[in-house]
Amino acid sequence: MTKGFLHTHNLVVVIFLITFIIKTVLLLLNKYEQLDKIREKTKVLEMIMGTLILITGGYLLYATKNTQSYIIAKIVIVLACIPLGIIGLKKKNKALAVIALLGFLYVLGIALTKSLTLTKQKIEVPASVSEESSAASEEIIQENADNGLSNAKAIFEQECSRCHGLDGKQGLAGAKDLTVSQLTDAQKKEMILKGKGVMAGYEGRLSEQEIDNLVLYVNTLKK
Ligand code: HEC
Repeated sequence: MTKGFLHTHNLVVVIFLITFIIKTVLLLLNKYEQLDKIREKTKVLEMIMGTLILITGGYLLYATKNTQSYIIAKIVIVLACIPLGIIGLKKKNKALAVIALLGFLYVLGIALTKSLTLTKQKIEVPASVSEESSAASEEIIQENADNGLSNAKAIFEQECSRCHGLDGKQGLAGAKDLTVSQLTDAQKKEMILKGKGVMAGYEGRLSEQEIDNLVLYVNTLKK
């Protein structure tokens, strides 16, 4: 809903701006006849566009509750420039029309940069830096995975090897040979959580993360 309003707002603003630029240029070139013709033809359209801009803008303000200073400045300047522009074009006052046009263009700049000084606030990350950091985060993920696995190995050796043996093959007390297990990861996880028969469940004793890692570790025992 808000998106629709935003698209409508932007589209109407662009059309409005283009017609306003054309009219101002005609005025500056002293083409009064053509200017009056166009003004006559776009009168209704202009009223509709003006109303649409204010309605959609008002709705967006209400919906996003965005009252940052650049939004307020946008509203004030637009509200001031609309009458200036209308009067400028009507009375063939070039200065007023140009001031209004500059006002509109400034507002466009504010809207695009979200800043009163028209400086982009978005900090562009240089490609090399972002590549480096993604390489670094991959390394961290890999390290965590390694840590998880070596943790799981330690837990396995302490908890599970009693029955399954260090290599998973032992099969004490009816324990299954883990190296030939046909269970899916989810089933193994369930087995470790809930246990079965002699094998007690580890739910509550091991964290979910530890159990996930144990499943991964058990898989590495497979030949
Ligand atoms: C007290 C002995 C014992 C301990 C300790 C034990 N298990 Fe088991 N485990 C068993 C037995 C017995 C089975 C077979 C259960 C059945 O299917 O009836 C089994 C089955 C499994 C299976 C299913 C294999 C398959 O293919 O059906 C997995 C996976 C497993 N254990 C992992 C572990 C892990 C991981 C640990 C340590 C956190 C662990 N077990 C500790 C005895 C044990």
